[in-house]
Amino acid sequence: MAALLTAIGLTKTYGKGNTKVTALDDVSFAVERGTLTIILGPSGAGKSTLLNILGGMDKADSGVLAVDGSNVADYSQQKRAKYRRDKIGFVFQFYNLMPNLTAKENVELATEMRGDKAMDPVAILNKVGLGHRVNNFPSQLSGGEQQRVSIARALAKNSDLILCDEPTGALDYQTGKDILSILYNLVKEGKTIIIVTHNSALQEMGDHLIRIKNGKIVSDELNPHPKDIKDIEW
Ligand SMILES: Nc1ncnc2c1ncn2[C@@H]1O[C@H](COP(=O)(O)OP(=O)(O)OP(=O)(O)O)[C@@H](O)[C@H]1O
Ligand SMILES: [Mg+2]
Repeated sequence: MAALLTAIGLTKTYGKGNTKVTALDDVSFAVERGTLTIILGPSGAGKSTLLNILGGMDKADSGVLAVDGSNVADYSQQKRAKYRRDKIGFVFQFYNLMPNLTAKENVELATEMRGDKAMDPVAILNKVGLGHRVNNFPSQLSGGEQQRVSIARALAKNSDLILCDEPTGALDYQTGKDILSILYNLVKEGKTIIIVTHNSALQEMGDHLIRIKNGKIVSDELNPHPKDIKDIEW
């Protein structure tokens, strides 16, 4: 299998002097196409920082990020925008829904960018269990419902690489499992998914587990026998 994504020596610091924080410190790993990777780490470990860089929302200070053979780290702002639009489905930790658009319109906004490649917004909202809430605004939805709109938005783009930041953080146990099953089925259909989370229960469901702490990778192992979602408890 060829790696879809390879990170080499990604480093990111915030601030200067006394307030300097090294959010990512020489992070290197590779992700194979058609796999589910779980990146596990405690709060403040650098998970969102890493995912934002992988998704082209942010730039590392140094390092290489090769996706599909080209170095995203070298991209101009314009090229990164195209990368985000065409290659990435992103589930934000804090949802980032447009408050003045309904659930359906939030998903449509993302699908418009993808033209024919996109999936039907209402079908995807149905899939995440929100068929009855398509015309509601984010402020009229619970936290978990907003999170599912944000997941639907990422999935509807039908991009090859889906990056999920704590995708079950606001969901109850059963809904969380339903969402993880949807994600895992997409992997079986050929998508590549990376989930970052602090929930160690998810560590056994991936094909690949990377642990991160204080901005550094502390372990990186493949899991030849991922656990079925229905057998995962938390
Ligand atoms: N824009 C920023 N400016 C300054 N420091 C930042 C910024 N973003 C993140 N940090 C710091 O970088 C470190 C990593 O943050 P990050 O958000 O990546 O952690 P995380 O693993 O996603 O945590 P959580 O599980 O709480 O979401 C933290 O110490 C955080 O305070
Ligand atoms: Mg985070």
